[in-house]
Amino acid sequence: MRFVVTAGPTREYLDPVRFLSNPSTGKMGFAVARAAAERGHEVVLVAGPVGLGTPKGVVRIDVTSARQMFAAVKESLGDGDCVFVATAAVADWRPVKCAAQKLKKSQMSGTIRLARNPDILKSVKCRHKIGFAAETCDLMREAARKCHEKGLEMVVANDVTQKNAGFGSDTNKVVFVKKNGDVEALRMMGKLAVARRIVRFAEGLA
Ligand code: PMT
Repeated sequence: MRFVVTAGPTREYLDPVRFLSNPSTGKMGFAVARAAAERGHEVVLVAGPVGLGTPKGVVRIDVTSARQMFAAVKESLGDGDCVFVATAAVADWRPVKCAAQKLKKSQMSGTIRLARNPDILKSVKCRHKIGFAAETCDLMREAARKCHEKGLEMVVANDVTQKNAGFGSDTNKVVFVKKNGDVEALRMMGKLAVARRIVRFAEGLA
């Protein structure tokens, strides 16, 4: 099978030295790419700015912003005969303007005008889509909503308020929320173990 995986944060620059972003390190997405490659699948990993080495056998495309990630994903999906796993924490908004030079304090009003970024997972077309949902409340309701609205086979619901789960940790504690309504709560485990479960689920869709 062919996998396209997004990982890490995006950065939305306001000027050359300031940006909007989030604490994603890419660990979860790189683990999915590694798990898929270990199973012999073809893998393209579209990565935001992170400090991780490329897993063996994986083709990596580095991007910075949400719009760059969107373009790289569309290109990588090709004819869409693949599985798209969206683990990236994509910034939903970007500053309307990015100044060419570092803004002086005197040039800043205290208000930043924002524009909506594309929803990559919702917009793209491919055979199977698997998403994540990073939530601080209403985990199951939000996961089910995202599964339906984005046309997914499954959402990996991630309560990012839990200790040793979510952003930055080596472990994660997630719930698989499937499109047929089935729910599977996984115990706390390493991100690679979670990734292997996701890849196994995707293989079952083939
Ligand atoms: O990178 P780590 O430090 O290992 O952290 C892992 C993680 C917490 C980032 C990961 O486990 C996780 O939960 N990723 C999803 C983060 C997120 O942005 O969730 P969301 O609920 O805002 O988005 C829902 C889904 O739509 C996600 O699959 C996301 O990739 C996708 N999306 C969101 C917005 C957007 N503009 N485009 C998208 O494709």
